[in-house]
Amino acid sequence: MKFFKIIVLFTLFVPFSIAEFNVVDYCVSNLKLPKTPAGYPCVNPDKLTSDDFVFTGFRNSGNFTIFNSAVVPATDETFPALNGLDLAMSRIDIAVGGVVPIHTHRVSEIIIVIEGTIIAGFIGTNNTAYYKILNKYDVMIFPHTLLHFQVNVGDTPALAFVSLNSANPGFQTVSVALGANDLPTEIISKITLLDEQQVRRLKSIFGGTNQYIA
Ligand SMILES: *[C@@H]1O[C@H](CO)[C@@H](O)[C@H](O)[C@H]1NC(C)=O
Ligand SMILES: *[C@@H]1O[C@H](CO)[C@@H](O)[C@H](O)[C@H]1NC(C)=O
Repeated sequence: MKFFKIIVLFTLFVPFSIAEFNVVDYCVSNLKLPKTPAGYPCVNPDKLTSDDFVFTGFRNSGNFTIFNSAVVPATDETFPALNGLDLAMSRIDIAVGGVVPIHTHRVSEIIIVIEGTIIAGFIGTNNTAYYKILNKYDVMIFPHTLLHFQVNVGDTPALAFVSLNSANPGFQTVSVALGANDLPTEIISKITLLDEQQVRRLKSIFGGTNQYIA
Protein backbone atom coordinates (compact mmCIF):
# COMPACT_ATOMS: atom_id res chain seq x y z
CA MET A 1 0.00 0.00 0.00
CA LYS A 2 2.77 2.37 0.97
CA PHE A 3 4.60 1.49 -2.20
CA PHE A 4 1.44 2.17 -4.18
CA LYS A 5 1.14 5.64 -2.61
CA ILE A 6 4.70 6.42 -3.51
CA ILE A 7 4.07 5.39 -7.10
CA VAL A 8 0.93 7.57 -7.24
CA LEU A 9 2.77 10.58 -5.84
CA PHE A 10 5.62 10.02 -8.22
CA THR A 11 3.24 9.81 -11.17
CA LEU A 12 1.43 12.98 -10.10
CA PHE A 13 4.58 15.02 -10.04
CA VAL A 14 6.18 13.70 -13.20
CA PRO A 15 7.73 15.18 -15.18
CA PHE A 16 8.08 18.49 -13.32
CA SER A 17 5.73 20.41 -11.12
CA ILE A 18 5.47 23.41 -8.83
CA ALA A 19 5.95 20.99 -5.91
CA GLU A 20 9.64 20.63 -6.71
CA PHE A 21 9.95 24.27 -7.65
CA ASN A 22 12.12 25.14 -4.67
CA VAL A 23 14.82 22.87 -6.01
CA VAL A 24 14.68 23.91 -9.68
CA ASP A 25 14.72 27.75 -9.26
CA TYR A 26 12.06 28.28 -11.91
CA CYS A 27 9.11 26.49 -13.40
CA VAL A 28 8.16 27.81 -16.82
CA SER A 29 4.46 26.99 -17.45
CA ASN A 30 3.77 23.98 -19.57
CA LEU A 31 0.57 25.32 -21.11
CA LYS A 32 -0.21 21.91 -22.63
CA LEU A 33 -0.91 20.47 -19.17
CA PRO A 34 -3.86 21.56 -17.00
CA LYS A 35 -3.43 24.47 -14.61
CA THR A 36 -3.49 23.56 -10.92
CA PRO A 37 -4.29 25.81 -7.93
CA ALA A 38 -0.50 26.22 -7.53
CA GLY A 39 0.04 27.18 -11.17
CA TYR A 40 1.07 25.16 -14.20
CA PRO A 41 3.33 22.11 -14.27
CA CYS A 42 6.83 22.97 -15.52
CA VAL A 43 8.37 22.65 -18.92
CA ASN A 44 11.35 20.29 -18.77
CA PRO A 45 14.17 22.69 -17.74
CA ASP A 46 16.56 21.01 -20.19
CA LYS A 47 14.40 22.29 -23.04
CA LEU A 48 14.47 25.97 -21.98
CA THR A 49 16.40 28.69 -23.78
CA SER A 50 16.95 32.38 -23.02
CA ASP A 51 13.91 33.20 -25.15
CA ASP A 52 11.68 31.48 -22.59
CA PHE A 53 12.60 34.21 -20.09
CA VAL A 54 11.90 37.16 -22.40
CA PHE A 55 8.49 38.74 -23.15
CA THR A 56 8.18 40.96 -26.22
CA GLY A 57 4.43 41.54 -26.01
CA PHE A 58 4.77 45.08 -24.67
CA ARG A 59 6.14 46.46 -27.95
CA ASN A 60 2.61 47.32 -29.09
CA SER A 61 -0.59 48.30 -27.33
CA GLY A 62 -3.38 45.79 -26.79
CA ASN A 63 -6.87 46.03 -28.29
CA PHE A 64 -8.90 49.04 -27.21
CA THR A 65 -12.18 48.23 -25.48
CA ILE A 66 -15.39 50.19 -25.02
CA PHE A 67 -13.56 51.96 -22.18
CA ASN A 68 -11.03 53.36 -24.68
CA SER A 69 -8.17 51.60 -22.99
CA ALA A 70 -6.05 48.59 -23.89
CA VAL A 71 -4.26 46.15 -21.62
CA VAL A 72 -1.54 43.68 -22.55
CA PRO A 73 -1.18 41.25 -19.65
CA ALA A 74 2.05 39.40 -18.93
CA THR A 75 0.87 36.59 -16.66
CA ASP A 76 1.69 32.89 -16.32
CA GLU A 77 -0.48 32.28 -19.40
CA THR A 78 1.02 34.87 -21.76
CA PHE A 79 4.55 34.85 -20.31
CA PRO A 80 5.01 31.28 -19.03
CA ALA A 81 8.30 32.04 -17.23
CA LEU A 82 6.29 33.96 -14.60
CA ASN A 83 4.70 30.72 -13.40
CA GLY A 84 5.15 30.38 -9.64
CA LEU A 85 7.20 33.57 -9.29
CA ASP A 86 4.39 35.68 -7.74
CA LEU A 87 4.87 38.39 -10.36
CA ALA A 88 2.92 39.78 -13.29
CA MET A 89 3.00 42.95 -15.38
CA SER A 90 0.68 44.73 -17.79
CA ARG A 91 1.08 47.42 -20.39
CA ILE A 92 -1.81 49.88 -20.20
CA ASP A 93 -2.69 52.38 -22.94
CA ILE A 94 -5.49 54.84 -22.24
CA ALA A 95 -6.78 57.00 -25.09
CA VAL A 96 -7.75 60.62 -24.46
CA GLY A 97 -10.91 60.48 -22.35
CA GLY A 98 -10.51 56.73 -21.80
CA VAL A 99 -10.46 54.84 -18.53
CA VAL A 100 -9.40 51.59 -16.95
CA PRO A 101 -12.76 50.77 -15.37
CA ILE A 102 -13.09 50.12 -11.67
CA HIS A 103 -11.92 46.59 -10.95
CA THR A 104 -10.33 44.35 -8.37
CA HIS A 105 -7.87 41.47 -8.14
CA ARG A 106 -6.52 39.17 -5.49
CA VAL A 107 -3.16 40.89 -5.16
CA SER A 108 -1.60 44.32 -4.91
CA GLU A 109 -0.65 46.42 -7.89
CA ILE A 110 1.92 49.15 -8.48
CA ILE A 111 1.65 51.52 -11.45
CA ILE A 112 4.20 53.76 -13.15
CA VAL A 113 3.07 56.35 -15.68
CA ILE A 114 5.35 56.65 -18.73
CA GLU A 115 3.34 59.07 -20.88
CA GLY A 116 0.39 61.34 -20.23
CA THR A 117 -1.59 62.37 -17.20
CA ILE A 118 -4.04 60.17 -15.37
CA ILE A 119 -6.13 60.20 -12.24
CA ALA A 120 -5.58 56.91 -10.43
CA GLY A 121 -7.32 55.85 -7.28
CA PHE A 122 -8.76 53.16 -5.07
CA ILE A 123 -11.55 52.87 -2.54
CA GLY A 124 -10.75 51.50 0.91
CA THR A 125 -13.04 49.09 2.74
CA ASN A 126 -14.37 51.99 4.83
CA ASN A 127 -15.26 53.71 1.53
CA THR A 128 -12.60 56.39 1.68
CA ALA A 129 -11.38 57.12 -1.84
CA TYR A 130 -7.68 57.79 -2.32
CA TYR A 131 -7.07 59.33 -5.75
CA LYS A 132 -4.54 61.61 -7.32
CA ILE A 133 -3.32 63.06 -10.59
CA LEU A 134 -0.25 61.12 -11.72
CA ASN A 135 2.20 62.57 -14.23
CA LYS A 136 5.03 60.99 -16.15
CA TYR A 137 7.13 58.69 -13.91
CA ASP A 138 4.79 58.96 -10.92
CA VAL A 139 4.07 55.74 -9.08
CA MET A 140 1.05 54.67 -7.02
CA ILE A 141 0.03 51.46 -5.32
CA PHE A 142 -3.39 49.81 -5.14
CA PRO A 143 -3.57 47.50 -2.10
CA HIS A 144 -4.72 43.93 -2.70
CA THR A 145 -8.43 43.30 -3.35
CA LEU A 146 -9.47 46.98 -3.22
CA LEU A 147 -11.45 48.46 -6.10
CA HIS A 148 -9.31 50.76 -8.23
CA PHE A 149 -9.29 52.63 -11.55
CA GLN A 150 -7.38 54.96 -13.86
CA VAL A 151 -8.75 57.85 -15.96
CA ASN A 152 -6.86 59.69 -18.70
CA VAL A 153 -7.43 63.34 -17.78
CA GLY A 154 -4.80 64.74 -20.16
CA ASP A 155 -5.07 65.75 -23.79
CA THR A 156 -2.61 63.11 -25.03
CA PRO A 157 -2.73 59.30 -24.90
CA ALA A 158 -1.47 57.82 -21.66
CA LEU A 159 0.91 54.90 -21.30
CA ALA A 160 1.56 53.13 -18.02
CA PHE A 161 2.91 49.84 -16.76
CA VAL A 162 1.73 47.95 -13.73
CA SER A 163 3.18 45.09 -11.75
CA LEU A 164 1.21 42.71 -9.56
CA ASN A 165 2.44 40.27 -6.95
CA SER A 166 0.96 37.12 -8.48
CA ALA A 167 1.51 35.39 -11.81
CA ASN A 168 -2.26 34.83 -11.86
CA PRO A 169 -3.74 37.99 -10.30
CA GLY A 170 -7.36 37.46 -11.36
CA PHE A 171 -9.27 40.38 -12.80
CA GLN A 172 -12.83 41.36 -11.99
CA THR A 173 -14.22 44.55 -13.49
CA VAL A 174 -17.40 45.70 -11.76
CA SER A 175 -19.48 46.72 -14.79
CA VAL A 176 -18.32 43.73 -16.84
CA ALA A 177 -19.09 41.32 -13.99
CA LEU A 178 -22.56 42.84 -13.65
CA GLY A 179 -23.21 42.88 -17.40
CA ALA A 180 -21.68 39.63 -18.64
CA ASN A 181 -23.39 37.13 -16.34
CA ASP A 182 -26.59 35.10 -16.69
CA LEU A 183 -28.42 36.35 -13.61
CA PRO A 184 -31.91 37.66 -14.35
CA THR A 185 -32.04 41.44 -14.74
CA GLU A 186 -34.44 41.75 -11.83
CA ILE A 187 -32.04 40.07 -9.42
CA ILE A 188 -29.11 42.24 -10.49
CA SER A 189 -31.32 45.28 -10.13
CA LYS A 190 -32.32 44.22 -6.61
CA ILE A 191 -28.82 43.42 -5.43
CA THR A 192 -27.31 46.65 -6.78
CA LEU A 193 -30.16 49.22 -6.74
CA LEU A 194 -29.38 49.85 -10.44
CA ASP A 195 -32.47 50.43 -12.63
CA GLU A 196 -33.48 47.41 -14.70
CA GLN A 197 -32.94 49.53 -17.80
CA GLN A 198 -29.34 50.18 -16.73
CA VAL A 199 -28.82 46.48 -16.05
CA ARG A 200 -30.14 45.60 -19.53
CA ARG A 201 -27.78 48.16 -21.04
CA LEU A 202 -24.81 46.51 -19.27
CA LYS A 203 -26.03 43.06 -20.37
CA SER A 204 -26.30 44.28 -23.98
CA ILE A 205 -22.78 45.71 -23.91
CA PHE A 206 -21.08 42.79 -22.17
CA GLY A 207 -23.12 39.85 -23.47
CA GLY A 208 -25.06 38.78 -20.37
CA THR A 209 -28.18 36.70 -20.96
CA ASN A 210 -31.59 36.63 -19.26
CA GLN A 211 -32.26 40.31 -19.84
CA TYR A 212 -36.00 39.77 -19.66
CA ILE A 213 -36.27 36.84 -17.27
CA ALA A 214 -37.39 37.76 -13.80
C1 LIG B 1 -6.17 41.70 -30.14
O1 LIG B 1 -7.13 41.09 -30.96
C2 LIG B 1 -6.60 40.18 -31.89
C3 LIG B 1 -7.73 39.74 -32.80
O2 LIG B 1 -8.83 39.31 -32.06
C4 LIG B 1 -5.96 39.02 -31.14
O3 LIG B 1 -5.40 38.10 -32.04
C5 LIG B 1 -4.88 39.56 -30.22
O4 LIG B 1 -4.36 38.50 -29.44
C6 LIG B 1 -5.42 40.63 -29.31
N1 LIG B 1 -4.35 41.24 -28.56
C7 LIG B 1 -4.29 41.23 -27.22
C8 LIG B 1 -3.10 41.86 -26.60
O5 LIG B 1 -5.17 40.73 -26.51
C1 LIG C 1 -11.34 55.41 6.90
O1 LIG C 1 -10.03 55.15 7.36
C2 LIG C 1 -9.16 56.26 7.26
C3 LIG C 1 -7.77 55.77 7.67
O2 LIG C 1 -7.82 55.19 8.95
C4 LIG C 1 -9.68 57.41 8.10
O3 LIG C 1 -8.82 58.52 7.96
C5 LIG C 1 -11.06 57.77 7.62
O4 LIG C 1 -11.61 58.76 8.47
C6 LIG C 1 -11.99 56.56 7.63
N1 LIG C 1 -13.21 56.96 6.97
C7 LIG C 1 -14.41 56.57 7.40
C8 LIG C 1 -15.58 56.99 6.56
O5 LIG C 1 -14.57 55.88 8.40
